[in-house]
Amino acid sequence: MNDMKPINVGLLGLGTVGGGTLTVLRRNAAEITRRAGREIRVTMAAVRNLEKAREFAGSDLILTTHPEDVVNNPDIDIVVELIGGYSPARELVLQAIANGKHVVTANKALMAVHGNEIFKAAQDKGVMVAFEAAVAGGIPIIKALREGLTANRIEWIAGIINGTTNFILSEMRDKGLSFDTVLAEAQRLGYAEADPTFDVEGVDAAHKLTIMAAIGFGIPMQFDKAYTEGISKLTREDIAYAEGLGYRIKLLGIAKRTDKGIELRVHPTLIPAKRLIANVEGVMNAVLVKGDAVGATMYYGRGAGAEPTASAVVADLVDVTRMHTADPEHRVPHLAFQPDALSDEPILSIDEVRTSYYLRLKAHDKPGVLADVTRILADLDISIDAMIQKEPAEGEQQADVIFLTHQAVEKSINRAIAKIEALPSISGKVTKIRMEELGSN
Ligand code: NDP
Ligand code: HSE
Repeated sequence: MNDMKPINVGLLGLGTVGGGTLTVLRRNAAEITRRAGREIRVTMAAVRNLEKAREFAGSDLILTTHPEDVVNNPDIDIVVELIGGYSPARELVLQAIANGKHVVTANKALMAVHGNEIFKAAQDKGVMVAFEAAVAGGIPIIKALREGLTANRIEWIAGIINGTTNFILSEMRDKGLSFDTVLAEAQRLGYAEADPTFDVEGVDAAHKLTIMAAIGFGIPMQFDKAYTEGISKLTREDIAYAEGLGYRIKLLGIAKRTDKGIELRVHPTLIPAKRLIANVEGVMNAVLVKGDAVGATMYYGRGAGAEPTASAVVADLVDVTRMHTADPEHRVPHLAFQPDALSDEPILSIDEVRTSYYLRLKAHDKPGVLADVTRILADLDISIDAMIQKEPAEGEQQADVIFLTHQAVEKSINRAIAKIEALPSISGKVTKIRMEELGSN
């Protein structure tokens, strides 16, 4: 076994994930070789700052500031793209494929937005593109969806798939720290994206959701149709009211099959506090997948950081090394389904989504106000599950009123909200947060 020639790897990027990958490959070299059947050797890496990289990487690695030198190097078998972003990552990956190299990447933005083009190029060239680290850090969710659950018709996927925002929500709640303080700490720990608004505004989670939905349902990547709402407008009051009602608020990515099409949405969500997923804290991620045969399954682990993410990158490297000599026809398809068997099931607009809702409004504390609101809801066929009225703060005439609704279509809820906001007895905007039961049925 060990007589086999090593497989040569070129790294694009030696930052949080690239550095973690090199560390794990070096530390566990003997075990990894025993698993892969041959040595996996990093021979070259591209960075911007050579000095910083030299100190970390040592002298047995060729370093360059020209990433094209890595993708064009004929001695390299696998290119690992850990630069991030769309460009030059896209061009470098396409060039590596054109040169007949396999690609491993942790870049969810690239996969979600340019994945269809990249998979087509890889298929034409007979090379592999592996991206386990792109979703939920160290959790092997791609492997689970693509292989472990392959017998199932996937019904829905719901996950906490952004470590930074889950870390922010947990630390704000548990330690009372400010949003900005916790975000800075997430950046220091290497969790956040280069542009942290991708984390905070739900874009990173939508990239990951797009990838999981494509694999779960056998549809092309359609990031542009995902509904994306982040945590920047969440208030402490809503987090506290939700707790009081027995719920936690989490930023969830949800992909669900319905009779009308597929729901693809990222937004803050009230989840019953008794669910396991409601208790996933800090940088931890968790993904629930409901299959028709297996029922609900849950996958949990670190969603970001150097070595957890490196764990997924190295798993892909071992997979690619093992399958390197296999006939491309015998490899697992990129999106689990054969490329000519993808479905054109439509993605539903957020207006068509059906779920239940938490609505908070500020109402004048006088007779008839609540009757007006409940009439508006009833007229639009929205049924109320629970209602609580808070005591007005001292010296104030208005009180927070919270309604939890049963399931309704989003466009009806939006119509109701517009009418409620127009009532003279209601001040300001109505806060709307979607709710999910996430039960096993
Ligand atoms: P970092 O910013 O820590 O590292 C990026 C690396 O790429 C650095 O070494 C940087 O060099 C190098 N680089 C950037 N642009 C170029 C360029 N044009 N030419 C050569 N080198 C370049 O990012 P991360 O490691 O955090 O993220 C990498 C990827 O992994 C991203 O796609 C990210 O979304 C993804 N990811 C990150 C996770 C995390 O926890 N951080 C988890 C899962 C996925 P230099 O340092 O010299 O500037
Ligand atoms: N910024 C991402 C997160 C990194 O916080 O989840 C892991 O993909």
